[in-house]
Amino acid sequence: MEAWPYPVVFVHRLGGALAPENTLAGLMLAHRLGARAVECDVKLSADNVPLLFHDDDLERICGSSGPVAHLTLSELRRLDAGSRHHPAFATEPIPLLDELAAAARSTALAVNLEIKPCAGRAAESGATVAQAAAAAWQGHLPAPLLSSFSEEALAAARDAVPHLPRALLLERWRDDWQAAALALGAVALHVHRLQLTPSRVEAAHAAGLRVMAWTVNDVLEARQLLAWGVDMLCTDRPDRLLCL
Ligand code: G3P
Ligand code: MG
Repeated sequence: MEAWPYPVVFVHRLGGALAPENTLAGLMLAHRLGARAVECDVKLSADNVPLLFHDDDLERICGSSGPVAHLTLSELRRLDAGSRHHPAFATEPIPLLDELAAAARSTALAVNLEIKPCAGRAAESGATVAQAAAAAWQGHLPAPLLSSFSEEALAAARDAVPHLPRALLLERWRDDWQAAALALGAVALHVHRLQLTPSRVEAAHAAGLRVMAWTVNDVLEARQLLAWGVDMLCTDRPDRLLCL
């Protein structure tokens, strides 16, 4: 397989369990802990601006009800994305993809952008996020690694910006993993940690694919996965796994 430009440990949702998820405060905390890579979730506002948010609904993170997909960027930017984690983070906004790119470049963090489309917006999310990411990271290596559970979003990303690397996310292992990855031109499989076995890792490698396990928070489990040949670990506990 070709040389792989990404570090082993990716901090889940930018700061893992140690900061409000998908915020730049989390990214800076990961950087201070010595992280070299982060994962975050990207979706579109009602006016098609890529921003970092996991859920379709605002309730869990922002405490206000309603779908993210119904609000414009300026409406979303007024919300508090931090104080549900801890009152000290009350001023944290929902970040724009462009702000993430600037912060990642200034801290030299590699990024896995998980495209997390709101319902019914898979293709436009894949294409828009890929185009925005290509522009924001132009001339900077490594390129952002795009991933998604949505094959429709990944196919749109592939068609819009073929040169950005893509990874297929799997909640469950599936018999057609190789055909699905091939159709998407994927370079990696990002697999739920409990779905991996040594033979699955070996088969993925034999097919030319790297493997990420998510979400791995236990050091002994991480060591076992690495012994099986897993290439990347996504973790909520950078304080534990960054010493590996
Ligand atoms: O990319 C790995 C992981 O982030 C996928 O699950 O729900 O945390 O986005 P989720
Ligand atoms: Mg994610």
